[in-house]
Amino acid sequence: MSNKIIIANFKMNLSSKEEAIDLCQYYQQKDKELPNVDFIAAPDFLWLEDVVKLGVATSSQDCFFEDSGAFTGEISPMILKNLGVQYCIIGHSERRRLGDTDEIINKKIKAVVKNGLIPILCVGETLEQKQSGQKEEVLKNQITKALDNIPPSTLYSLVVAYEPVWAIGTGLAEDPEEAEKTMEFILNLTKQIITEAEIKIIYGGSVDAVNIGNFVSKNIIQGALVGGSSLKKEEFAKILEIANSLNK
Ligand code: 13P
Repeated sequence: MSNKIIIANFKMNLSSKEEAIDLCQYYQQKDKELPNVDFIAAPDFLWLEDVVKLGVATSSQDCFFEDSGAFTGEISPMILKNLGVQYCIIGHSERRRLGDTDEIINKKIKAVVKNGLIPILCVGETLEQKQSGQKEEVLKNQITKALDNIPPSTLYSLVVAYEPVWAIGTGLAEDPEEAEKTMEFILNLTKQIITEAEIKIIYGGSVDAVNIGNFVSKNIIQGALVGGSSLKKEEFAKILEIANSLNK
């Protein structure tokens, strides 16, 4: 069985490099004792290089869809790759809310895979969409558009993060059985589009040390994308421990 992946998405919550390094070193140390789980850090762009230097697997929280040129303020996927970054989160609902359309997300995925980074594609429905019975339609739309026309030879590995928008930062995680069903739907659909790559599907949205076990004990759920709890040392270390112990 392959290792579960637990990603710490610090978002824009830390105020200094020292804090980010301190958390990453703590989780790295913990992860070294845990053979069945892989820790990935998604710190602020500004500290990616320092976290890479620690020897921690890293993800950027976003990137631009061009490698270089007159794009003031954007982050190049080529530079991320050259820094030693391995993953890139694309289509997080917090980016979609700020204007990332399905078309932009598709371009970003293409740029990321062209540079040999592994995309972590985030999908998820809002509460309104869930309540009006549109969940599967919304997810299908997000996935088919994000993965449209990706040359199979460029994409060897893909992570899909199912993050219900209403579960992010609210303390209201999705019911694990319901998440499992939704994630089966997502995985089947993704496999029909991306036939040759290794695909992992992970859950995100109010994951903590109390509920992590209910998610990662499901075979289909290959890990978690963790926001708030990744800022709390003991809580996140516990999440790593539980994910490790349930993956034997
Ligand atoms: P929370 O764990 O804070 O709900 O955030 C989830 C998330 O958005 C991870 O990308």
